[in-house]
Amino acid sequence: MVNTVAIMAEFEKQASCHPTVVPFAGHMERLYEECLIRPGTFIELGVFNVGPVSTTAFLRAAVATDSALYSCDMEPCEHTRQFVRKQFDIDDTSELWSFYQEDSVAFGRRWAEMWPIPQPINVLLIDTSHKARQTRKELEIWLPQLHEEGVALCHDTVSHPEGVLIPIEEYVEAHPEFGFENIEESHGLGVIWRQTDVE
Ligand SMILES: C[S@@+](CC[C@H](N)C(=O)[O-])C[C@H]1O[C@@H](n2cnc3c(N)ncnc32)[C@H](O)[C@@H]1O
Repeated sequence: MVNTVAIMAEFEKQASCHPTVVPFAGHMERLYEECLIRPGTFIELGVFNVGPVSTTAFLRAAVATDSALYSCDMEPCEHTRQFVRKQFDIDDTSELWSFYQEDSVAFGRRWAEMWPIPQPINVLLIDTSHKARQTRKELEIWLPQLHEEGVALCHDTVSHPEGVLIPIEEYVEAHPEFGFENIEESHGLGVIWRQTDVE
């Protein structure tokens, strides 16, 4: 049984964040738990924040499950890289964690070519520009690469309905093989998964 209260307290301390200051902190527990039940390959699109919030939850789960996290941001995210070096004693090219300074869609196009055999994604986080055009492209390039039991989490569905929620709704309507649930708290979290009972 996961002691999520203790883990959350540790996360908040380590990542110098609180849900009232950093909205994604309200979803750290969900992200962490999704990773625990879906170990393997984790992708984080959008890294930087005042505290390295999603990176901390991902890396804690990666350590616990012997998984690998691949993080992508167009900015260098030096603060997060320093934080990870200090807290996890690894750099950004380790087996546990790799950081790519790159556009999220360009990285998605490259992902399949990076591996000799396909690497389906167990947990994907999309938390980048929150602009509709970018979100549409991210969904189109990344969702087909999701593991059959994988999950995608998209932050800011409530705070950015036009940039995040509407593109997701359009995508799942056009692709009934994916299911979608919108969690409204902490600026909103879109949860997308593959439906196993749809042809
Ligand atoms: C809201 S922050 C991410 C917060 C982070 N997930 C967390 O919870 O700590 C958004 C990040 O997305 C990055 N970003 C914006 N557009 C991007 C793009 N097209 N490709 C990659 N990263 C992008 C920004 O540089 C910024 O660091």
